[in-house]
Amino acid sequence: MGIEEALPASARDKLRAELLAEDHIFIQALPKVELHVHIEGTITAELRWKFTQRNGTPLRIAANGSEIHSLKELEHAMDLLRPDPSRVNNDEERFQFFEAYYEGFACLKTKQDYFDLAMHYYENTARMNVRYAEIFFDPQGHTAKGMSWDVMMGGFREAKERAERELNVKSAWIMCFLRDLSPESAMEHYEAALPYRDIIVGIGLDSNEEDRPPVLFDEVFTRARKDGFKLTMHCDADSKNAHEHIRQCASVVAGHGLDRIDHGINAAEDQGLMNLIKERDLGMTICPWSYLRHTTFEELGPKIRTLLDVGIKVTINSDDPAYMEDCWVLHNMLLVRRLCNFSDREFLVLARNAVHACWASDAVKEGMLREIDLVQQHFMGEQ
Ligand code: ADE
Ligand code: ZN
Repeated sequence: MGIEEALPASARDKLRAELLAEDHIFIQALPKVELHVHIEGTITAELRWKFTQRNGTPLRIAANGSEIHSLKELEHAMDLLRPDPSRVNNDEERFQFFEAYYEGFACLKTKQDYFDLAMHYYENTARMNVRYAEIFFDPQGHTAKGMSWDVMMGGFREAKERAERELNVKSAWIMCFLRDLSPESAMEHYEAALPYRDIIVGIGLDSNEEDRPPVLFDEVFTRARKDGFKLTMHCDADSKNAHEHIRQCASVVAGHGLDRIDHGINAAEDQGLMNLIKERDLGMTICPWSYLRHTTFEELGPKIRTLLDVGIKVTINSDDPAYMEDCWVLHNMLLVRRLCNFSDREFLVLARNAVHACWASDAVKEGMLREIDLVQQHFMGEQ
């Protein structure tokens, strides 16, 4: 990092308010596809409090130590966990994030909790004109606390069906393996998930990337591709060996590489990687707000612009809104407008990129492209 530091939490709050105060009628109106959001990253303090109250379970935040007795106390405890460059360095920040994130899973006990969590996502993003989403979930984090697949997937399935019926939001789920666990555990979970494959479109890899290269999971990803799943993996911003991890994702794993890359922003530093990603026409799921925690405006904007300018299918997404100043896909789009000075026409490119990069049926994709055309006509009077 240069002289400039990443923004502290209070400055990120201020930035969120500033971005929302800017004119965003066009960006709001755009039909959106979200391809990178972790359902467990949408467990807000309110939801956590609601579930623990409803289930009569105690609520404790490890870093805080004592039991939490009110929503206010919970909000305060979660606020203290927000990364701040004046307090934590990059590695600590990542570690602290994962600790807080996995602790949050404990509040989910019943099918109703899983349903409510997913509906909360769908309702929130329907208001931002999200029309289609591919949503990550981390089954190993749930089975580790004894959760049954039927409870978890039953809740997700009912919410998915209701969102499609009542909110005009279509979706599919992406099962992520935790890369800090073993490839054997990934394979066990892969097999256990097969009865639910009608709502699972793809397989991903997330969690702590340190010393866990993509090729470690080659066997399960190769099998998943043979079985017809789409494939993606996280390449977190500025992680150790970021370039090598991106190279393995783009050209090695499962025979010739994956179908998309999550984050992968460091590809912008390497022309060879960008060529590879472009040749394979891989979508990239960029989540700018999450990079703000450990990088600067000066570094970030040019990287995202470079990826778009070379013709890579960049898409804009939210990652973990409950841990990122309550910033959802709309806020992330407003942030990239500020960072990269993107025009409305460039937002049309981003919106169409997400449709092309998603794994919906051709009919669903065509419907979304037509809707984007209509918004273009409405605002620009042309095709
Ligand atoms: N799981 C949830 N959010 C994540 C992120 N940003 N990187 C890796 N794993 C994650
Ligand atoms: Zn992610």
